[in-house]
Amino acid sequence: MSAMRRRPRRAPGPGARHRDGPAPGAGTVYGIGAAPGAGTATVHEIGSGHETGSVHGVGAATVPEVRNGAEVGSGHEVGSVHEVGSVHEVGSVHEVGSGALPPTYREVRLAARPGRDPRPEHFEIVRAPLRPPAAGQVLVRNLVLRIGAATRTLMADEQVLPMAPYQPGQPLRGTALGAVIAAPGTSLRSGDLVRHDLGWQQYALLPAAQVRRVDPARWPDPAACLSQGFVGWLAVDRAARIEPGDTVLVTGAAGGVGCIAGQFARLRGAGRLIGTTGSRWKADHLTDRLGFDTVLVRGEGPIEDQLRAAAPDGVDVLVDTVGGEQFRAALALARRRARLVVVGALAGQAGGGTRTVTALDTLALCSRGITVSGLSAADHGADVERWEEEFSAGLRTGLLTFPHVRLTGIDRAPAALRDLLAGRHLGTVLVEPT
Ligand SMILES: NC(=O)c1ccc[n+]([C@@H]2O[C@H](COP(=O)([O-])OP(=O)(O)OC[C@H]3O[C@@H](n4cnc5c(N)ncnc54)[C@H](OP(=O)(O)O)[C@@H]3O)[C@@H](O)[C@H]2O)c1
Repeated sequence: MSAMRRRPRRAPGPGARHRDGPAPGAGTVYGIGAAPGAGTATVHEIGSGHETGSVHGVGAATVPEVRNGAEVGSGHEVGSVHEVGSVHEVGSVHEVGSGALPPTYREVRLAARPGRDPRPEHFEIVRAPLRPPAAGQVLVRNLVLRIGAATRTLMADEQVLPMAPYQPGQPLRGTALGAVIAAPGTSLRSGDLVRHDLGWQQYALLPAAQVRRVDPARWPDPAACLSQGFVGWLAVDRAARIEPGDTVLVTGAAGGVGCIAGQFARLRGAGRLIGTTGSRWKADHLTDRLGFDTVLVRGEGPIEDQLRAAAPDGVDVLVDTVGGEQFRAALALARRRARLVVVGALAGQAGGGTRTVTALDTLALCSRGITVSGLSAADHGADVERWEEEFSAGLRTGLLTFPHVRLTGIDRAPAALRDLLAGRHLGTVLVEPT
């Protein structure tokens, strides 16, 4: 049973467009407690309601089939993809604490490094013994895992992110929300909610210092603490210096980072808000439900041409999660003293690349006084509390929303990653590892 409740979307700020009712095409947005309605893609939005402490939702998502960035044919059921790696058992059965705990749990491991496309054989789902925590450790039952583009980059045999790459035969990692089972010798209590980086498994055993306590009273749904919007918020607040009326371009606007960055850009005074995405149904969702004025679609003509039509007077701010052609278009249209903030490089990452090389017209930079900056969330740990405070408050009041897709079953996590990279989901992708 979902804790989602449908509510009318409120425009996130001045100038934002708002239409009531379900998004046309594939996007159907649920608030807390909503029953599924019409539409083919199920995207949940957290942004109102006051249920606390519960972490649940529904999983099936059906979206148009997407090939080469274009929608083709009719619905394709993402939620029923079953191409996952082999399942087998390792280790011995192990008694842990009370009889309520299973002796083993399932985790997803990297079976082999993929080439361009991760396929089922690159993952294996393995049973591992559940071990009791030692003093100072915490045993967590994972409730929700986040799947993200960085997961793909960490499968490569090269360290390009602040985290070490995955190793074949080892479990994948990623941000997760879980409930404490036991944490001897620590201040954590059974049932406490915590966030940590040992996702892709049903249980996690780790030092208590590596978990962050999650206050269920703060969040309409604690799963929202898994949003990767932190870096989008940082880009808007720390680097973009948005001035009222600025024209702001957010690339990868339908991704977990982009759809939060767009909302904050509007809140900070963006006059014209432009996004990019890879499919028309997502573009419609962004304009109808998330306050974007115009959304450019990859594959519907050169991005620079589309951007010139959408912003004939140019762009003041870029929050870039894509790079490549999209960054070049923003630079071509950048106005005097424009701020171009790079937080991701999906153009390379989505295909497994570890480089996103983009030619820069350096004469344009100096002659128009343009600033280009890169931003890594890893450098801003001290800001997490302030981000959570503002984001959760915005969700509680309905000023902000957390679009996400929620799937059920750890065996669906590999397919969820592949579908994410293929652009079949909107917002953050979450998996309940049952
Ligand atoms: N700097 C940091 O500290 C930090 C922190 C978190 C995340 N990030 C980065 O921010 C970026 C966005 O992360 P995210 O979690 O929002 O991503 P995400 O939700 O995982 O988005 C993946 C999306 O990439 C898009 N995509 C696929 N192929 C593409 C291509 N060839 N060109 C452009 N877009 C393509 C698809 O969306 P569409 O179909 O809508 O295009 C897909 O849904 C990533 O590069 C991630 O690594 C950086």
